[in-house]
Amino acid sequence: MRALLPLALGVSVVVFALSAGAQGTSEQVGALTCAGCHASEHEKWHEGPHARSARRLVGVYREDQACLQCHAPSREAGLKGVQCETCHGGGRYYFAEYVMRDSELARLVGLRDPDEATCRVCHDANSARLVPFDYEKARERIRHW
Ligand code: HEC
Ligand code: HEC
Ligand code: HEC
Ligand code: HEC
Repeated sequence: MRALLPLALGVSVVVFALSAGAQGTSEQVGALTCAGCHASEHEKWHEGPHARSARRLVGVYREDQACLQCHAPSREAGLKGVQCETCHGGGRYYFAEYVMRDSELARLVGLRDPDEATCRVCHDANSARLVPFDYEKARERIRHW
């Protein structure tokens, strides 16, 4: 029984991390924390469209949830723009270096692999844009890897 206890604790930590929902902004540590180890990725993100998306909103729209959901989805956590973790999953449980180096464990506790569906949450296929969203091209334009 005693030998089983640490195992049970370990499992419950993982279950907790999973059930806490990696998408929640409360799981987010913020782009600056990621920058500590991913400086070049952060630099590219910072120069790109997602770091500045909140600045697009002027006047009453700055407080309008209908706009914030795409332009500043992590605002309640005090984080600006479309964060690393909006695409990669909340980092609270994976940002420690020993977890990051273990790609299986990192994914188990919240790291996600962004794909086209991740983008389409905001780059809506049904939106009335003249130029439809082209995943491959859009991906190249935010390349930071
Ligand atoms: C303490 C340092 C550290 C921090 C903080 C950190 N990372 Fe990492 N990350 C690493 C290391 C080390 C790797 C392993 C790969 C490598 O050597 O680059 C990695 C790998 C990754 C990978 C690739 C994983 C894979 O297996 O394909 C992604 C994506 C990633 N990090 C995103 C993030 C995000 C987003 C944040 C912020 C929430 C973050 N990292 C914070 C150190 C860190
Ligand atoms: C479903 C996600 C979503 C919502 C909701 C949303 N936006 Fe956007 N917005 C985008 C995306 C994505 C872009 C980048 C252009 C593109 O690819 O469509 C954008 C671009 C913009 C731009 C730049 C101008 C342009 O046409 O490129 C402005 C200004 C803007 N949005 C304001 C707003 C305001 C104000 C609201 C709320 C009334 C809002 N947005 C709601 C996703 C959204
Ligand atoms: C708009 C969504 C989005 C944002 C925001 C974003 N990324 Fe990424 N990231 C991606 C995509 C897509 C890939 C490519 C995944 C693939 O195909 O392997 C990627 C790849 C990476 C990789 C390489 C993963 C690997 O397998 O080698 C790292 C590391 C990474 N991102 C870190 C970051 C950090 C740090 C930030 C914030 C400073 C950030 N990303 C912001 C979507 C995003
Ligand atoms: C949480 C919402 C959200 C997600 C998820 C998201 N984006 Fe965006 N993206 C935006 C907003 C908002 C803008 C507008 C930023 C601005 O122009 O100020 C934007 C702008 C862009 C632009 C510049 C578009 C232009 O016409 O200037 C590219 C390219 C882009 N996103 C690629 C991607 C890719 C690729 C992914 C998925 C890997 C992705 N985005 C995921 C919200 C999002």
